[in-house]
This record gives sequence, structure tokens and C-alpha cells, in this order.
Amino acid sequence: MTLWQSRLSAPPADALLAFTESLSFDQKLWRFDIQGSRAHVHGLTRAKLLDEEESASLLEALDSVYSELETGNFRFLPSDEDIHTAVERRVTELIGDVGAKLHSGRSRNDQIALDLRLYARSAISAISHGVVEFLSMIADVAEAAGDAVMPGYTHTQRAQPVPIGHYLLAHGWAMRRDLDRLLAAYGRMDVSPLGAGALAGTTLAIDPEFTANELGFATAFLNSFDAVSDRDFIVEILFNIALLGVHLSRFAEEIVMFTTEEFGFFRLDDAYSTGSSMLPQKKNPDIAELARGKTGRYVGNLVSLLVTLKGTPLTYNRDLQEDKEPLFDSVEQMTRELVAFQGMVSTMTFDYERLRQAASSEYLQAIDIAEYLVTNGVPFRRAHGVAAGLVRDSLERRVPLRELVGAHPQLGEEAMSLIEADAAVRRRSAAGGASIDSVVAQLKRYRQELHDLRGLVATLNTNPVE
Ligand code: ARG
Repeated sequence: MTLWQSRLSAPPADALLAFTESLSFDQKLWRFDIQGSRAHVHGLTRAKLLDEEESASLLEALDSVYSELETGNFRFLPSDEDIHTAVERRVTELIGDVGAKLHSGRSRNDQIALDLRLYARSAISAISHGVVEFLSMIADVAEAAGDAVMPGYTHTQRAQPVPIGHYLLAHGWAMRRDLDRLLAAYGRMDVSPLGAGALAGTTLAIDPEFTANELGFATAFLNSFDAVSDRDFIVEILFNIALLGVHLSRFAEEIVMFTTEEFGFFRLDDAYSTGSSMLPQKKNPDIAELARGKTGRYVGNLVSLLVTLKGTPLTYNRDLQEDKEPLFDSVEQMTRELVAFQGMVSTMTFDYERLRQAASSEYLQAIDIAEYLVTNGVPFRRAHGVAAGLVRDSLERRVPLRELVGAHPQLGEEAMSLIEADAAVRRRSAAGGASIDSVVAQLKRYRQELHDLRGLVATLNTNPVE
């Protein structure tokens, strides 16, 4: 029997049940569903809609269902449409009529909105923890690289020498913004929808603020329509995961490229590489490639929910059931991705010598020659022309740039020392630039911010069941 069978004169068609069920994927929410039901029982008791005995009996039945589910002994029935139905059906089996009081003043519409917010809270917390660990690993790897240099690229063409730490921290700062966004999203979704009923609240004297507080939410809903139909918090998580995924994907693309024999800059640890089933010599960067590949899913999940929401009038519509699979998928994939990617980067080694050689091409210092002239009063446009002319000359006549610089009347001996990778990263002193000093300053600031963020993440509500 479905919950709504009494209204209809015919039992549901198998095809209807097969198409509309959500149990196969919303089972995942069982802990949160029971947590919400416990709070609801407390609310009903406080409103004197349940006496102490009924209340105790309901809580005990919920505990039994909890352990049945936890130990894998819960038997789902074909008529269980979703997790809410399954739990309530079992509670009623266990304690009869008292069980039938559980759903007073509640609809599955506020119930699912609540379950999802509880899940979302835990999910944000889990992903935020993962990002904090990742950020801290980046700081360690950047610090360990010391003053080692590598070429920086634009258009995938060698551009200027930079400290490796500067490159790594760039990825760190991007993900630090992701963490900021996750925390802000958490703040916006910290609202309990319980008590909104189907759409308009209830005539029963329950107090949404009481249950909100009991569930550790900052506040209760202000508008019941909004409470049952708002899925913005899921869109926000999906967006945050998509952008985090894009950041990791860009990093992954560099790892794929830089570990090739052609570049030979980075080397992956064997534990974080895969082999080929056919080609004996292969060592493949599968984690990085999959991190790049999963981005399609993350973006797809975000777009999928936005499109689902687009056509839904207020308030609840069954379309909203389509919010869950994208959410679960992105959260689960990203949780695993963060751990695997972190392991890959923390065990990766750098071929410092090769990176240094690549960064030491004379032409990468051409801008430093131009800027040397600028400090001697030459207008930049003219200085640029001089340096570019020397590069062209050097290439055409196959004479080292260094020699041409030494022989140039406006440059000479002193300027020759600029043609060296280390010179540029030492001299580039403007704040935030790619210099050794900047990396030291950045690391200090980065670690401070990370420390504060770690503190904030630790306060997020994760525990699914009290
Ligand atoms: N499985 C439903 C969902 O995920 C639960 C809410 C059902 N509400 C309803 N009025 N049919 O959205």
C-alpha cells in the first residue's frame, strides 16, 4: 500500500511505480531522514500532540529502524516509494497506531527538503575538509621546492622563469576561493524547512524554530512556499564542485603535460600511476586524466539541476526529485577526487635540473633586458624594441644573446648578468610577482589564511545523527 492509496480507486500501475520511485537513490538519506523524524517527534511532543509515552515509543521505534538500516537488516518492500515511506511504514509495523502519528503536521515536501539540507551540510563539511587538507599539502610542496625555478607559460609557450612555489601557490589560491564559496553556501543553506508542511505550514501548534534549533540550524524558514521549493543550496553546491573540479582539471592538464617524456618536468610516484595492459613501458597519469574527465560530469550535474528547476512553478513539483542523483554523484566523486589528487601531488617529484634548464633559455630574460633599459630612463616601447631586436639578431646570426647584450652600447657587462634564470626571480620584487621573496611572503599569508579557514571548517555541522 502506498501512503496515498485511500484517495484513488485503483492500485498504482507497476509502470508508474517503476518510473516514479526514488528509493533506489534516496536510501542514502536514511540517517538524515531519521534524524529529522526524531526532531519532529520532539516538536510534536512539545506541542502536546504526542504524550510522553507515545513520544518514547516513537523514538524507540526510530532507533530500531536506525539499527536495522545500519546493519543492513532493513527489508525494503516493493511498495516503498522512497526512504520517507519506507521508514514510516516500518515504524508503524513496529508500534502500530502510534507510528501512524509520526507524520502529523508534516509532508514529504518539507521532509525531503530537510533531509537534503542535512545531507548538504555534511557534504559541504566533508568537501571543505578535503579542500583544507589539499591546500595544506600545496603549502608543504611549495615550501619544499624552495628557490627552485621553472618556466612560466602563456599560450603554452615559454614566457618567464618563476619559482616552482609561485606556480603551485597559484593553484592553492584558486582553491582557497572555492573554500570561501563553500563556506558562504553553507551559511545560506543553514535554514530548517521543517514545519512548512506540504506548502502552507500547518494548523497544528508545532514550532519550526524549536526543531530548527534542535537540528542545529541557524534558523527556521520564513516562507513555507520557499521552504519546500527552494533548491538553490543544491545548485550552489553543484556549482562550487563544478568550479573546484575545473580548477583541479586545469592543474591535472599541467600534470599530464609536464610528466610526458617530452617535458619531463614532474615524475609521478608509482603508487599514483597506472600501467598499460599491452605496452610494457607505459606509466600513465590516470588520476590526473580522470580529474580532467570528471569535470564533464560536474558541469553536467549543475546544468541538469538548473534546467530541471527552470520550468517548475511554486511550490513543490515532483520534478524536484531529480535533484538528488546529480547532488550525490558530484559530492561522492569530488570527495574521492580530492583524496586521490592530493596523494598524487604530494608524492610527485620534480626534475629540478631539467626545470632549471628549461627556465634558463636566454630568451626568457628578454623582458628583463627591456626593464633594465627602463630603469635607465629609456621609454618602455623603445626598450622593448631594443630587446626584441637583440633576440631576432641572436636567432638569425646564431650568436648567444648574452654576447649581444654585452656588446650593446646601452647595455654592456652589467646587463649580461640578467641573462640567467635566477637573476630574474631574485630581482622581481614587486608584491605578488613571481620572485623568491614573494613566495616567502605568500606562503606566510597563505598559511595564516589556511589556519583561520581550518578553524571555520571545524565548526561546520557534520554529525548526521545526534
Ligand atoms: N521522493 C520525493 C522527492 O524526492 C519526496 C517528496 C514527495 N512528495 C510528494 N508530494 N510526492 O522529491
